[in-house]
Amino acid sequence: PTPVILDCDPGHDDVFAIWLAVGNPALDVRAVTTVAGNGSLEHTTLNARIALSVAGVHGIPVAAGAAQPLSRKAHAAVDIHGENALGGPATLPEPTVPLDPRDAVSLIADTLLASAEPVTLIPTGPMTNIAALITARPEVIPHIREIIWMGGAVDRGNITPYAEFNAWADPEAADIVFKAAQSKQAGLNITHQALVTDEVIARVEAVGNATSAFGVQLLKFFCKTYAEVQGMPAAPLHDPVTVAIAIDRAVATVQRTHVAIETKGEYTAGATNVYLLDQVKGRDMNVEVAMQLDVKRFFDLIVEAVKQLA
Ligand code: BDR
Ligand code: CA
Repeated sequence: PTPVILDCDPGHDDVFAIWLAVGNPALDVRAVTTVAGNGSLEHTTLNARIALSVAGVHGIPVAAGAAQPLSRKAHAAVDIHGENALGGPATLPEPTVPLDPRDAVSLIADTLLASAEPVTLIPTGPMTNIAALITARPEVIPHIREIIWMGGAVDRGNITPYAEFNAWADPEAADIVFKAAQSKQAGLNITHQALVTDEVIARVEAVGNATSAFGVQLLKFFCKTYAEVQGMPAAPLHDPVTVAIAIDRAVATVQRTHVAIETKGEYTAGATNVYLLDQVKGRDMNVEVAMQLDVKRFFDLIVEAVKQLA
């Protein structure tokens, strides 16, 4: 199996990214680290431990990372994810998965250096921890196989007209990462193909285990807030698209090109400038941008993973 590290801000779709990764035999999840994003670091860290606990997965270290972006203030996405970043269930269970005493950067660095082969990093939140790792521990960069990030978009954003939430939350971090390491980007242009329709909810529900019951509560809440806030009839299950690509490259088409992150714009900070035309000539082809999703294969992977869990 491919060794991976998940860096996340759960968050409804982050929980499904975790479940897809731990529930699919093609991946070996070596660590889970957390960052402030959808909620405060306290909430996202608790929620990551809850996601693993509900799934009955013990033994993967979980460590907390950055509570604030590199140079901006954190803004929780309360309208989409709720006050505790995991709205839906009436109460959240106490996690049985412990918190590793290391910080996220140390856990990621230790995990990379301990691995016999390079490890894939899968960030599904603001890239604050990954940028901090690259800056503080540059010697680990050769141990990163690739970075598959949920963030950005080929065209429009969701939090501002041109910025997607994870890119907007910490543009300086995304800029550091995209300049330093070979990356893949699953942005809104592909994640908005992963729509949680009623049929998807019914398929998850039909699995009939504790993970699916908890997951259905998350999906229903997520669809409700997406309908209210974005007027979308079905919510996009953004984050697991990255994990699906790590499992099976054929789940998404990709275009290799140059992507530059806007860090200065008064209106456009966090915009991912994806060069799709001839403009790319002479620029560093630093990112593979995911374009077209095999939607059926994607949701088959999700349902299969949930079946493997508690
Ligand atoms: C991204 O922002 C968060 O709301 C989701 O978890 C996802 O990572 C989508 O813009
Ligand atoms: Ca996320």
